Amino acid sequence: MPPLAPTVKLNNGRDIPALGLGTWQATPGEVREAVKHAIDAGYRHIDTAAVYRNESEVGEALQEKFKEGAVKREEVFVTSKLWNTCHRPELVVPTCKKTLADLKLDYVDLYLVHWPFAYKIECHPYLNQKKLIEFCKQRDIVVTAYSPLANPSITMPAGGLPLLQNPKLKLLAAKYKKTVAQVVLRYVFQLGTVPIPKSFTKKRIEENIRIFDFELSNDDVTDISKLNKNYRVFPHAQAKHSKYYPFHDEF
Ligand SMILES: NC(=O)c1ccc[n+]([C@@H]2O[C@H](COP(=O)([O-])OP(=O)(O)OC[C@H]3O[C@@H](n4cnc5c(N)ncnc54)[C@H](OP(=O)(O)O)[C@@H]3O)[C@@H](O)[C@H]2O)c1
Repeated sequence: MPPLAPTVKLNNGRDIPALGLGTWQATPGEVREAVKHAIDAGYRHIDTAAVYRNESEVGEALQEKFKEGAVKREEVFVTSKLWNTCHRPELVVPTCKKTLADLKLDYVDLYLVHWPFAYKIECHPYLNQKKLIEFCKQRDIVVTAYSPLANPSITMPAGGLPLLQNPKLKLLAAKYKKTVAQVVLRYVFQLGTVPIPKSFTKKRIEENIRIFDFELSNDDVTDISKLNKNYRVFPHAQAKHSKYYPFHDEF
């Protein structure tokens, strides 16, 4: 049995595993294998959404693992999300039921409003969200860190160095004998968030959960925090003029 991630208590008393598998940007077939491999590698938290159009595959992978006896339903924390076109009250229940049918589950553990825009949870060293995390901590709210690796598949603005190529992080990775991705994930975990790195690469799925066997010193956390540049992978600029656009707010 691989080591599991520790859990974090939510304010409803439930526990959420402190690291999950992100599943956005899958080509057909990819996510099924990734989820199965992640369960074998010790993941007990899967992040999906109707708009990722992969809930059926996630469901198939989970069913396979339940049947194998690798894991029980109640041992896996599954998150899904309500898409923007389904916010009307009469659409919420049928949309949620469709997600449950696709996932082949009786319940999900967390059902989020995907956008707009209460969901602000992108977090990584280039956008460390200290104020938002502090605000949520004071209210006993656990923050999920999406795009915790600052999604290296998305090109940064001209002149920007991708997070995983940052020289300071490379030095820290060498110091802790970890990869840069592991240092980054450990950093967002130590900030008090639950990172959900996406990977469909077996080696990286395994690498990304191995962050609970070392600790960054306070000085190193402070140093990494200096990398903050308020860089958003997803600025949602197309919604800038909406009255619900969240990123004009202080948090
Ligand atoms: N609610 C929202 O609006 C929202 C928005 C964005 C994301 N999310 C959720 O958050 C999850 C994670 O965010 P994300 O997918 O944007 O970005 P991410 O997890 O920061 O980065 C994913 C990218 O990093 C690569 N990668 C993963 N592990 C790596 C490692 N150890 N070393 C080097 N590269 C690595 C992956 O490639 P390979 O797959 O090839 O390994 C993939 O291209 C999503 O999948 C989704 O579930 C939610």
